[in-house]
Amino acid sequence: MTEQDKKPGLAPASTAAATTGKAEAAPVAATSAAATSPTGSPAAAATSPVESPTAAATSPTGSPAAAATSPATGSPLGEPTANPQDAIIDAEDDEDYPDDIDSALGDGQSTYTTSLASSVFNYPVEFGRRYHAYQHGRYTRPNDEQEMDRLLIIHNMVTLATGELFLAPIDMEKPQRVLDIGTGNGVWAVEVADNYPNAFVLGNDLSANMPNFVPPNVKFEVDDVESDWVYEEKFTFIFSRYMAASILDWPLLIQRTYENLEPGGWAEFQDFDIHYYSEDDTLKSNDPLAIWIKSMGDAAAAIGRDPQPGYKLKGWFENQGFTNIFHRKYKLPIGTWPKDPKLKQTGLHNFMQINQGLEGLSMRLYINVMKWTHEQATVMLAEVRRRLHNPNIHAMMDYHVVYGQKPLN
Ligand SMILES: C[S@@+](CC[C@H](N)C(=O)[O-])C[C@H]1O[C@@H](n2cnc3c(N)ncnc32)[C@H](O)[C@@H]1O
Repeated sequence: MTEQDKKPGLAPASTAAATTGKAEAAPVAATSAAATSPTGSPAAAATSPVESPTAAATSPTGSPAAAATSPATGSPLGEPTANPQDAIIDAEDDEDYPDDIDSALGDGQSTYTTSLASSVFNYPVEFGRRYHAYQHGRYTRPNDEQEMDRLLIIHNMVTLATGELFLAPIDMEKPQRVLDIGTGNGVWAVEVADNYPNAFVLGNDLSANMPNFVPPNVKFEVDDVESDWVYEEKFTFIFSRYMAASILDWPLLIQRTYENLEPGGWAEFQDFDIHYYSEDDTLKSNDPLAIWIKSMGDAAAAIGRDPQPGYKLKGWFENQGFTNIFHRKYKLPIGTWPKDPKLKQTGLHNFMQINQGLEGLSMRLYINVMKWTHEQATVMLAEVRRRLHNPNIHAMMDYHVVYGQKPLN
């Protein structure tokens, strides 16, 4: 902890929503606005009608407060809900596309606080990419502009897929004290602060990558969430997203989350299972794309970072003692192969973030963990990129949203 947050006087989360669930998603057609906006604003996604777990279907960044006052029409809280995304995703008819030629898709497609010395900002550069300095080596991906752009694409992708900034049934009209674990570029924290002026949002990260010009109700700090948490005040909502392959001890992170929540407060964790598969066997296990993602997962696991926390989140929440637990899985296609327009957009975002992230996701793991040479890694990644561009490969990955409430007593 580098500097503690001191924002007094915020009330605990509303417990009125405790028995409120989320309505099931109603698939609706999407526009292709985001297709022309690789790093487009969430607003672009917000104007696309999307499948949404709440009535706020046309507003991915819309008010969960509205949802909080809407009676659930889905499964009772605590039960995994039936998921429209469990249906097999239909692919468009295969294009007349030889497997060994590159795709026509092409590549077109703060205020923060720290009491630490400038060493926090002394970012090392390796393999042409910039990495975090605080707790050097703890995290394997870069913190440079290219990576922050990739995180923005992911933000747009998952808010498009889920339809919301978060799904927990919190009354955001009331004051809330929110913590965003591993905030990255801070876009989630800023949007929550912007949308909900009664909330105070604190985002932390190993790197100080957050923007300087932010709403007055957001604050960032450099911190290691795997060190002791020493907040003077508890939170009413703690959010964590995309910490796959980052965290050494997930149950401990969830325990700390629980301990730092007010009674009645909510935690929501959204995360990937970093594993690619296809439902029509177009992604073979010996495909370079499949080999690459498996080797990245194995390398992350070898240094103790679970690459597939998504499907385990619900069990960890249960073991910790959270109540009113909700779980939903989203299948995220990779590429523009799905017929469904919204899934096509989601897949485009996914394609772009992987295409942009290949080197950043891989280099430290290939070179520092797997002991490959830079040249070996570069050759492999060229082949992976070629396969990524092949629209006849209908790859996808899973994304999980889990939220739960700390009991009132
Ligand atoms: C994949 S990014 C996700 C960022 C953000 N949560 C989002 O959804 O866009 C993971 C972030 O976690 C940060 N991180 C990794 N390990 C951390 C740790 N031990 N403490 C704080 N932040 C950490 C990284 O610096 C990076 O910004």
